[in-house]
Amino acid sequence: MARHLITSALPYINGIKHLGTLVGSQLPADLYARYLRGRGHEVLFLCATDEHGTPAEIAAAKAGQPDADYCAEMHAVQEELARGFGLSFDHFGRSSGPQNRRLTQHFAARLAEAGLIREVSERQMYSHADGRFLPDRYIEGTCPNCGFPEARGDQCDNCTKQLDPVDLIDPHSTISGSTDLEMRETKHLYLRQSAMKDALNDWIDRQESWPVLTTSIAKKWLNDGEGLQDRGITRDLNWGVPVQKGDEPWPGMEGKVFYVWFDAPIEYIAAAQEWVDAGKGDDWERWWRTDKGAEDVRYTQFMGKDNVPFHTLGFPVTLLGSGEPWKLVDYIKSFNYLTYDGGQFSTSRGRGVFMDAALEILPADTWRWWLLSHAPESSDSEFTWENFQAGVNKDLADVLGNFVSRITKFCRSKFGETVPEGGAWGPAEEALAEEIEGRLRAYEAQMEAMEVRKASAELRALWVAGNEYLQGAAPWATFKEDPERAAMQVRLGLNLVRLYAVISAPFIPFTAAVLTEALGTDGAAWPGAAREALTALTGGEAFTVPENLFAKITDEEREGWAARFAGKG
Ligand code: 2FM
Ligand code: ZN
Repeated sequence: MARHLITSALPYINGIKHLGTLVGSQLPADLYARYLRGRGHEVLFLCATDEHGTPAEIAAAKAGQPDADYCAEMHAVQEELARGFGLSFDHFGRSSGPQNRRLTQHFAARLAEAGLIREVSERQMYSHADGRFLPDRYIEGTCPNCGFPEARGDQCDNCTKQLDPVDLIDPHSTISGSTDLEMRETKHLYLRQSAMKDALNDWIDRQESWPVLTTSIAKKWLNDGEGLQDRGITRDLNWGVPVQKGDEPWPGMEGKVFYVWFDAPIEYIAAAQEWVDAGKGDDWERWWRTDKGAEDVRYTQFMGKDNVPFHTLGFPVTLLGSGEPWKLVDYIKSFNYLTYDGGQFSTSRGRGVFMDAALEILPADTWRWWLLSHAPESSDSEFTWENFQAGVNKDLADVLGNFVSRITKFCRSKFGETVPEGGAWGPAEEALAEEIEGRLRAYEAQMEAMEVRKASAELRALWVAGNEYLQGAAPWATFKEDPERAAMQVRLGLNLVRLYAVISAPFIPFTAAVLTEALGTDGAAWPGAAREALTALTGGEAFTVPENLFAKITDEEREGWAARFAGKG
């Protein structure tokens, strides 16, 4: 029994996320959380909407709503979709809540006391056409580092370098397209990340088992070129955490807010406070403060690769720099991108499948299974409708669905809806138990290692093993000569269904619940020895036949959806 804190990167509030975002953080985080709970560990799984920043402001303006109303509405939408996908957050918080505001202002005060914040008078892009200072993301131009023509003011998506808008060559406003930009004087706070460089290097070097993708990105930004740069942590926006030193005003900073990337990761902590304030937990400090018990916690973060610098550098600077005993992340699981049919998902062009549309057309488990079994781990992976159809039909319908359907229906027709008694295992059953034993332990090892695709392959192999056994044992043939033996074979098959319900739950929780309900095996524990798991139902237990577990995706459906989600232009 261990204690696991798990967070998923916080989805931006502005709009419904596409499947690439889902599989790059929330979904694998849920897989891991469900697995660990299944193994009996104590888990706190947190996520929230990331509600500040320019994108939120612009989206609210576009919707013609006050920022707060827009965010409240979109939070509810995202929470409902998360529920629809079975994302088992212990709390789904809001970075615009009072807890995060207080904590963010607290951290700023601590960092200032530690001499890690300096005030900088700087010149910033003001757009005459837009009548406002332009936040980094709303300026585009050519990347000074790699020459990419569509680099954003905060980061180049091509070479991942973090940028400042003034670095861009030929900048323009992405709101109006205007190049009528003027540098104006304004004062901002800078976090002296550079002063924390050695502390960060030490901390990263102490991590034994970070994945290469994580460490290499972190080390690159820490030590390459000019190394770790100080970052502006305030913005000229209306919507955000007001710049204050704890409860005190910050002279000269009136009307400014903290930069969204400063307050967003702090929400990981604030979400735990929200969880307590909502009456769902009674102690957040034992998860977050190493002086209050959190030294026993294992903290894992899930995120897309573009988020890695903020989690290996930015947020740790905040935590370490505060001089307080905050829990730091132990393991960062980062993901590459999921592409859509040879290109990118695009909100503006309506290209690709978004979470709401996905649930309209197919059950959550269908998506969960395909996405997780194709998670972009070692490289980007691609969603194509052909691949999706093939994967779903083969793995879910032909393998798992077919197995469950055949065994339960055959039992009903010959023995009724009761697990049959009698008969003894022979060599085929012993061999199956041995195979299941090996595969179960391999599956666990991949889950522990958060190797999502490999874990899915092991789970599929466990389903295949059952199918192959059933094919070979052929109880429908055995029944004619030796009904006792057929009863034993059927009972073993039903025990496999019970086993699958437990071990498949992290991937396909809704289906697992249907199987559990059908077998009446609620509360079945994670399997220990395969032999025991396969003899748990001894005979005499009632069950029902789960109907239509998975429908196959037809060619017509596939074609229709491909056209519907192709996007315009
Ligand atoms: O990239 C994103 O979607 C960000 N909203 C992730 C924030 S993660 C955390 F730091 F809040
Ligand atoms: Zn670049």
